[in-house]
Amino acid sequence: MPAIVLIGAQWGDEGKGKATDLLSGSVDYVVKFNGGNNAGHTVVIDGETYALHLLPSGILSSGVVPVIGNGVVIDLGVLFEEIDALEARGVDTSALIVSANAHILPPYNRTLDKVVERFLGSRRIGTTGRGVGPTYADKMSRVGLRIQDLFDEKILRQKVEGALVQKNQLLVKVFNRRAVTVDEIVDELLSYAERLRPMVRDTSLLLCQALDDGRNVVLEGGQATLLDVDHGTYPFVTSSNPTAGGACTGAGIPPARIDGVITVMKAYTTRVGEGPFPTELTGADGVRLRKDGGEFGVTTGRPRRCGWLDAVIGRYAVRINGTTDFVLTKLDVLSGWDSIPVCVAYDVDGVRHDEMPMTQTEFHHAKPIYEYFEGWDGDISGARRLADLPAAARRYVDAVEEMCGAPISAVGVGPGRESIIPVRDLIR
Ligand code: GDP
Ligand code: IMO
Ligand code: MG
Repeated sequence: MPAIVLIGAQWGDEGKGKATDLLSGSVDYVVKFNGGNNAGHTVVIDGETYALHLLPSGILSSGVVPVIGNGVVIDLGVLFEEIDALEARGVDTSALIVSANAHILPPYNRTLDKVVERFLGSRRIGTTGRGVGPTYADKMSRVGLRIQDLFDEKILRQKVEGALVQKNQLLVKVFNRRAVTVDEIVDELLSYAERLRPMVRDTSLLLCQALDDGRNVVLEGGQATLLDVDHGTYPFVTSSNPTAGGACTGAGIPPARIDGVITVMKAYTTRVGEGPFPTELTGADGVRLRKDGGEFGVTTGRPRRCGWLDAVIGRYAVRINGTTDFVLTKLDVLSGWDSIPVCVAYDVDGVRHDEMPMTQTEFHHAKPIYEYFEGWDGDISGARRLADLPAAARRYVDAVEEMCGAPISAVGVGPGRESIIPVRDLIR
């Protein structure tokens, strides 16, 4: 009866979508527990590429029940666009279940996300501009709208009225935008209600009963450890908890029921948006990694910042999440370098730090201390056993496991579903 958490180790885009897809053959439920359509997960099946934002990656596998948990913020227009686009490609989305407690991402929060970023200027976060941050802020301020409110028009209207008292002041007086009316918001949201109604459930109850019945449940995080609002590189983070603890609150499953924590880690590091990144390569080497790895955002198309693997971050991800297994992705992208640096510690103003520094200022000052590993040549995308890899690539994998402190249970060697080296069973 395992409940397995699957999350990102770094700043997102580690290949979580592909890793979830890898498990789907032995899984009954895949639950998205945080974030919204700021996420972008690519899954490549038989040469067909699917980009998922709000929908859990498990939606691509027949027999898997995809669930959007209470911790997610839902832009309803985007949800139905995504459903329709998948249906048009022949994907059956009819099993989708949505939590009654998930929050609705209303249109005014998309506007606010963008204008707030513009006003922040050089202090901007580099958000995806989808309205995710303002919607989580509303949730915490208790002026949010929930999916269940769609089914009680009186309550919905009251809540929208309450929210707009503040929002319209902000939009008009601070940001010089037009005010929105209660009617336009209520009408837009209600236009989705009937189509949504059959999907809506008490998902905590559903998932706990599924676990009682011996079903396998994967809790899939959007974003990643260093984008966590508590444990990431605040304020350059997202507004939810993509770490393992967030899986429990975002899905309504108690901590003692979690049997494993799969942490997906790229064989190098990328980051989209602003914020510190000690191993970032700003010159030609960064351009080469971006080109070799196809590092452009799935959601916004922005070029991802690229750099070497950071084992301090790997160890931190293990500590914060209780990693039981790593899935190391994109090893194939590192082919062709003479030598591959890995950051093993930081030099912060002359002091060595083996663990993540305590303060933001220290992390901004962190200079990587590198250990250098021998590179390898050639296309490794056909490898299906560790023994198929060049000896230097095997040594790299072994060293990463040793430095980060949790077993590497699968190694990705290409984007396709089949391009994987399984090392040990991920669901035990
Ligand atoms: P996610 O947000 O964590 O699901 O990751 P993204 O989908 O945003 O970014 C990962 C990218 O790497 C996608 O384009 C995947 O198709 C691709 N990918 C995943 N695993 C591998 C791998 O092992 N090798 C290569 N070359 N590409 C991979
Ligand atoms: P997946 O699930 C990479 C980043 C944004 C920005 C910060 C805050 O595909 O790994 P937000 O719109 O969430 O308020 O933006 O977080 N960010 C991501 N970076 N992958 C993601 O998702 C991200 N989701 C948000 O670039 O720096
Ligand atoms: Mg992504």
